[in-house]
Amino acid sequence: MQSLLAQRSPCGTSGRGLAPRRSIVRVGPVRATTDATTSKPKPKAPQQMLVYSPPHPLIKHWLAILRSEYTPSPMFRSACAELGRLLVYEAVREFLPTIEQQVQTPLGAVADATLVDPTRPIKVVPILRAGLVLLEQCGQVVPFQETYHVGYVRDPVTLQASAYLNKLPAKLAEDDLFLITDPMLATGGTMVQVIDDIVARGGRPENVRVVAVVVAPPALKLLADRYPGLKVYTAMIDEQVDERGYIIPGLGDAGDRAYGTSH
Ligand code: URA
Repeated sequence: MQSLLAQRSPCGTSGRGLAPRRSIVRVGPVRATTDATTSKPKPKAPQQMLVYSPPHPLIKHWLAILRSEYTPSPMFRSACAELGRLLVYEAVREFLPTIEQQVQTPLGAVADATLVDPTRPIKVVPILRAGLVLLEQCGQVVPFQETYHVGYVRDPVTLQASAYLNKLPAKLAEDDLFLITDPMLATGGTMVQVIDDIVARGGRPENVRVVAVVVAPPALKLLADRYPGLKVYTAMIDEQVDERGYIIPGLGDAGDRAYGTSH
């Protein structure tokens, strides 16, 4: 895969170029480091939310299929799952914890080996309904994962989201790793609620990655204000959200289109 492109989001959330780092490190929570000369904690660098839109033709292709109003529901679902697979691949690049071991090859030789740490499965959090579709192929990319479904319903007038389902454990550990999926980040209200909930249960926002198909400026602004260190992986930043909360040009109601629901 090509190196990631960090985009400057239209809401003023600054992005910066991300040099591809190939070495795999064990990901842990971010802690303040100590200055060796004074023993005083170093001031933390200001955090900026990063929005990655990988410049890959396959990502563009599947996004185009999703955007088209003529794409039938089964194809919409498989395109969404495919896009999810590609975005999850990028999102876990420097996120998956690894262990160093040695393996014996068929030639009687021993090779150093880096493996995904089976003791720290990623906690995958799909926001129902459409977040589930985006995750369909996640198991093929991430060898060890646990799934915790959450469901929110949006009031059509106030656009406020309220939870009707939450399978997250009551207590989370500081070093738990989370991958939250929701195809459409329009206002960002639901995503903020999910991250708030993870933090209230003991998780850390630094250990959260968000995967979305399309994101819009109001969502990016809300998320950047509340969680400046967040990393968002998306196929596209669209320009607007209409008065009903739909992203324009967008792709319509992702859940309805994925499941063939008509009103
Ligand atoms: N949710 C959707 O499914 N589509 C949008 O455009 C916005 C929110």
